Amino acid sequence: MGKEKVGLWVVGVLVLVLILGLSAASDDRQQRWRKAMMSGETMGSSMLMNRVPSSIVLPLHGNVYPTGFYNVTLNIGQPSKPYFLDVDTGSDLTWLQCDVPRAQCTEAPHPYYKPSNNLVACKDPICQSLHTGGDQRCENPGQCDYEVEYADGGSSLGVLVKDAFNLNFTSEKRQSPLLALGCGYDQLPGGTYHPIDGVLGLGRGKPSIVSQLSGLGLVRNVIGHCLSGRGGGFLFFGDDLYDSSRVAWTPMSPNAKHYSPGFAELTFDGKTTGFKNLIVAFDSGASYTYLNSQVYQGLISLIKRELSTKPLREALDDQTLPICWKGRKPFKSVRDVKKYFKTFALSFANDGKSKTQLEFPPEAYLIVSSKGNACLGVLNGTEVGLNDLNVIGDISMQDRVVIYDNEKQLIGWAPRNCDRIPKSRSIII
Ligand SMILES: *[C@@H]1O[C@H](CO)[C@@H](O)[C@H](O)[C@H]1NC(C)=O
Ligand SMILES: *[C@@H]1O[C@H](CO)[C@@H](O)[C@H](O)[C@H]1NC(C)=O
Ligand SMILES: *[C@@H]1O[C@H](CO)[C@@H](O)[C@H](O)[C@H]1NC(C)=O
Repeated sequence: MGKEKVGLWVVGVLVLVLILGLSAASDDRQQRWRKAMMSGETMGSSMLMNRVPSSIVLPLHGNVYPTGFYNVTLNIGQPSKPYFLDVDTGSDLTWLQCDVPRAQCTEAPHPYYKPSNNLVACKDPICQSLHTGGDQRCENPGQCDYEVEYADGGSSLGVLVKDAFNLNFTSEKRQSPLLALGCGYDQLPGGTYHPIDGVLGLGRGKPSIVSQLSGLGLVRNVIGHCLSGRGGGFLFFGDDLYDSSRVAWTPMSPNAKHYSPGFAELTFDGKTTGFKNLIVAFDSGASYTYLNSQVYQGLISLIKRELSTKPLREALDDQTLPICWKGRKPFKSVRDVKKYFKTFALSFANDGKSKTQLEFPPEAYLIVSSKGNACLGVLNGTEVGLNDLNVIGDISMQDRVVIYDNEKQLIGWAPRNCDRIPKSRSIII
């Protein structure tokens, strides 16, 4: 497997390690502060009534192949500076590589972030939500330590701070709300390393920037992305850019940590395959799609059976991905090979009431390598430790809008050309 081609993905394997000491007895100042915070949150939800709808639209850069990820530019700090962040719906926390003494950072496109002195306290609900799973003791009540580990082996360790995020809203307002983010002072690169200033965590948890913006009444807690097959695309926060009736929706599985629509069944060329009850998650931090070993094997057999009568041969000399095929002449794009491949689909049961299909046409599972071969962008999840989890990565989400509605607990998708970035107040679908 071309290690460097597999993006950063975190689903289900996000490990938070606590840096714990003895608990400090809660002091009064802390309590008051926490109360202030909680009343702030209540105010947030009443403000919600008056202030939304508005959305934020951010252009994306990158591609599935050869870059392997999509990044977004955010302007953070006072005065604000630009940073390139890896977009990851598989994790919650947003962090930047931080400029503090003795920091161990990796190479970054911009100067490291200089943190504000505005530390997030250990008792802050955002900090507490990062510390679930372990016990909630705080070595230093005035600060919130975090550690986040990604499935590709990369990690970041640091403290939470609050700082201004300079954001343009579709209502044509500009605002700079204070949001919590990680100041990462000890980063390890993963197997899929690329220079980046930090990660934009867009998972379901409280630390997510969108959850924080929604707490402040600025946007609804809804995230969408549109990844273009030609590279680039856009990301949006909020729910006023699309017509909900044109989106295929399926409920989020309530107990999953990640964006999972529950169980699915695999169909191939419109026919059942016998693969059922597959646990599936959407993860923009994964470049490719992963199926567990059994289903992966099954899909390969089905594809190979189809190809047996077609003028394609396996290209064993192409190491771009585990399986590549060559034609009589090198291919220039997936368009040249799509006629040899079928569409498969995952069918979600929607609590047994109806079915929603996510189709994978050849464009959603093949890339054309630099050698001009068609390579299968579906990989063996068991091999990378995902166990039974099947992950839908960027390759399969291209050229459609994928929406994660954390308020209604729905995941939806609809076809769209992702090359056109919506202007303020336009409807994208
Ligand atoms: C991230 O996006 C910027 C444009 O906003 C681009 O210049 C940069 O090359 C991208 N970073 C990587 C590592 O692809
Ligand atoms: C917001 O919009 C202004 C005016 O169009 C633009 O100059 C600025 O770069 C934008 N800021 C961000 C953070 O995108
Ligand atoms: C997938 O990976 C597992 C674990 O490495 C391996 O045992 C299995 O044979 C692989 N499956 C296929 C179809 O390659």
